[in-house]
Amino acid sequence: MSLFNVYPLYDITPVSAKDMYVYDDKNVKYLDLYGGHAVISIGHSHPKYVNAISRQVEKLGFYSNAIQNPLQVELADKLEQLSGCKDYHLFLCNSGAEANENALKLASFHNKKKKILAFKNSFHGRTSAAVAATDNPKIVAPINAQQEVDFVELGELKTVETILKQNLTCAVIVEFIQGVGGLDQSTTEFYQGLEKLCKQYNTALIADEVQSGFGRTGDFFAFQKHNITPDIISIAKGMGNGFPIGGILIHPSIEASFGLLGTTFGGNHLACAATLSVLEVLEDEKLMENAINISYYFQEKAKALPSLKSIKGRGLMMGLEFEFPISELRKKLIFDHHIFTGSAKNPNLLRILPPLTIQEKHIDLFFEALKQELNEK
Ligand SMILES: Cc1ncc(COP(=O)(O)O)c(C=O)c1O
Repeated sequence: MSLFNVYPLYDITPVSAKDMYVYDDKNVKYLDLYGGHAVISIGHSHPKYVNAISRQVEKLGFYSNAIQNPLQVELADKLEQLSGCKDYHLFLCNSGAEANENALKLASFHNKKKKILAFKNSFHGRTSAAVAATDNPKIVAPINAQQEVDFVELGELKTVETILKQNLTCAVIVEFIQGVGGLDQSTTEFYQGLEKLCKQYNTALIADEVQSGFGRTGDFFAFQKHNITPDIISIAKGMGNGFPIGGILIHPSIEASFGLLGTTFGGNHLACAATLSVLEVLEDEKLMENAINISYYFQEKAKALPSLKSIKGRGLMMGLEFEFPISELRKKLIFDHHIFTGSAKNPNLLRILPPLTIQEKHIDLFFEALKQELNEK
């Protein structure tokens, strides 16, 4: 049997990894400034993480959600403590799309409405409602297109109000920093206005923190910079440092009832052990502070590049925008300099999504390589 050919692959085969580096089958060492798409938060194969998962799988890897699982309770408590999101409730699932799918479904259960409001250039995943709320017709199949979604330009509060006034929209879903779309973000005034409108028109505000959460921006969640309180917060990626886990934080104003949401694998013992160790390392190694410091260092270095159009993003969710498409540059960085970086829907944007353990010396290596390729030595 061959693989269903949906990924345009680079011809590199990683076989091991340690902190900031990935090693391939020919023992070539790659600096990882991509984090496997913003997934590696505490560094590859962190000893505490490896230990936690190994110990747990020896004891009990999985049992269903029909029994008590104290690891889920421990995880909810630790998440509350580190994120500062008081009194939310936690529902665990397996991926970012699934988190958003549950968030949208829960919003609709809660206020009985069925339209979604999402933003232009958004990415929320590839499942039913999540992909319908994603602004990319190429990945929306006819079966998904039956969902009713209004796409609004990020920042256009008036249009949001015109739509919410019709009283048909169950949820507004928003990435406070757009990931796949290209790291655009709006103002605190806009986000606070959005929160106000959602309250006024009984619409759930969903913060999609799948990519920006778990400390990547230097705050635990990207929305926290704007001092707002979402009704639902979706999480995944950095949460498991590579172990598949996702979830939603649910404001206490939304009530649970038996059977409302459910999953077989979500919140299993192994996944909880992985995430608990991620939270422990984030705290012990002060990785959110590191994200802020290294981001500052990165931006100072980037400002010195004459050919740069703009620097985008926040924390360790950074983008360098050029006047030309970056696909060739990205290939050169991988194959000639052995540095992984990311791309975006915006073809001129190089994305930097490293593990939060990154140090200044890694940033130096990146800029040396970049300057060489841009002939700016
Ligand atoms: C903001 C955002 N939401 C949702 C998703 C979907 O997550 P997953 O690929 O785990 O389903 C992604 C993935 O890139 C994302 O960036």
